[in-house]
Amino acid sequence: MTAPIVRTLAELREYTTAWHKADEVIGAVPTMGALHQGHLSLVRAAKEQCDRVIVTIFVNPKQFDNPDDLKNYPRTEHEDAKKLASLKVDVIYVPNPEEIYPDGFATTVSVSGLTDMLCGAARPGHFDGVATVVSKLFMQTQADKAFFGEKDYQQLQIVTRLAADLNIPIDVVGCPTIREEDGLAMSSRNLLLSDRSRIFAPLLAEVMGDIADALNKGEAMGDIVPDATARLLAAGFNEVDYLELRDGSDLSLLNSMKPGARLFAAAWLAGVRLIDNIAV
Ligand code: PAF
Repeated sequence: MTAPIVRTLAELREYTTAWHKADEVIGAVPTMGALHQGHLSLVRAAKEQCDRVIVTIFVNPKQFDNPDDLKNYPRTEHEDAKKLASLKVDVIYVPNPEEIYPDGFATTVSVSGLTDMLCGAARPGHFDGVATVVSKLFMQTQADKAFFGEKDYQQLQIVTRLAADLNIPIDVVGCPTIREEDGLAMSSRNLLLSDRSRIFAPLLAEVMGDIADALNKGEAMGDIVPDATARLLAAGFNEVDYLELRDGSDLSLLNSMKPGARLFAAAWLAGVRLIDNIAV
């Protein structure tokens, strides 16, 4: 049976108030829909750790820096609800846009430092949009725990920071990236890849694995990145936004291996921006 789809905050609060009264732990899985196995793994983690699970689906206009990207973002509510049915979530919250951004909405949540680099540098305003909507969803769901994928590692760090800074009583739980058999990190954007691009897309993860091997042999990023970039471009990637080694906690830039380092990549393939990151 599909879970009830709730579109207003008032209705959502009827559920959450009753659950809190019964001392039940509420888990939230914030998404923009187009659910794949990566999202479903977050839902499974939430089901294991919580008594009640709310999946939110909201394509957040404030986090898109490009109107075409927003227009083309896959919207698959019916299929999403079917996928969630087998996992027995309690509520699917698909807020009407005015529940998130009512007339006169004037607040932006902006996390400094962590948002200036990587995707923040390439997509101005993106993380302000994410931080703002996630703050709203934390307040609206009143969840005790929220589940995010490490696939969007920078987002996970930012969301963790904002919950701590704003004293939002929610435990942010990071879950591992789920990959296709050929190594491509699962992402809703993969649906936008043409059949031809889909063949080349896993090269991003392959190149990252090779960079990790070279780093572990003592090579420096400065010596590895030019060839790695050339390999991606030669295979049909149009542009590499970044290929960087960073500290996994404060995201400071590194040139060579150290414990806790992570490799981050973003590259364009035929109009689709793919991102990935791995612990090295
Ligand atoms: O990762 C996403 O799907 C989105 O950035 C999120 C966290 C749901 C906020 O819109």
